[in-house]
Amino acid sequence: MDFIGEIATIQQRLAACQEMAARRHAVLQELAPRRGERVIEVGCGAGFLLREIGLALGPHGLAAGVDISEDQIAAAARECAHVPAVKPMVGDIRVLDYPDEVFDAAVAVQVVEYIEDVPGALTELRRVLKPGGRFHCLATNWDSAFWHGPEATLTAQIARAWDAHAPWPNLPARLPPMLVTAGFGSIRTLPVPVVNPNLHENTFAYWAARLMAAYAVEQGVDKAQAQAWLDALDEAEQADEFFFSSVPILTTAIAV
Ligand SMILES: C[S@@+](CC[C@H](N)C(=O)[O-])C[C@H]1O[C@@H](n2cnc3c(N)ncnc32)[C@H](O)[C@@H]1O
Repeated sequence: MDFIGEIATIQQRLAACQEMAARRHAVLQELAPRRGERVIEVGCGAGFLLREIGLALGPHGLAAGVDISEDQIAAAARECAHVPAVKPMVGDIRVLDYPDEVFDAAVAVQVVEYIEDVPGALTELRRVLKPGGRFHCLATNWDSAFWHGPEATLTAQIARAWDAHAPWPNLPARLPPMLVTAGFGSIRTLPVPVVNPNLHENTFAYWAARLMAAYAVEQGVDKAQAQAWLDALDEAEQADEFFFSSVPILTTAIAV
């Protein structure tokens, strides 16, 4: 899935919604950034978390933001314009343009699941981390996403198309042994649930649905079907019959 054009715009709206503020808080609590540290965020998207990391590190720290999408890095550069520690740049998690063992911590939020070669990406992250460096990886087991409202077969059609959006749609379940092989230990997992009993423009469900519908159309689902699903979600909300939940997992590991 390429985060450019309309997809990038929807993802940026999603990243700004209320649950993502809670998610940033959870990541920051685990990361516990300290003044002067060097932290890399891969797949930083529009830079909302990167900005907060940069503020914590202060002018003598480095918050390196790397994203493969020029649209996302342009948005991150705007978001972080007045935070001296932040250096956003277009780059690829698979070949980071940094020397060995320079970072105190690395962060990846809903990113690693998009990489075919996850073991290779984890090895690259381990390379740029100092021994003892922290790695925080947030991802969703998409099989845990629960949509209530539209007719089940319509939801299943969109969900089936969405399954192809990332090579690792249930990454948290697969991550721990790959982390060990890449040179990490002390692995912990923390749930960061999303629960939306209502649907509105400040919810994860609202923007995730639009992302899924746009992607489903790219995958060949009829545009009218995708729109029918979005309409059915709105109707469910109006009838007080809407519910969404999922359990993203924040995995923390230490470079050995
Ligand atoms: C779902 S978005 C998450 C963005 C941000 N972390 C957030 O939580 O809002 C995934 C991001 O990973 C980026 N990405 C995908 N493959 C990448 C790669 N190989 N290297 C760097 N970034 C990548 C995409 O461009 C996109 O911005």
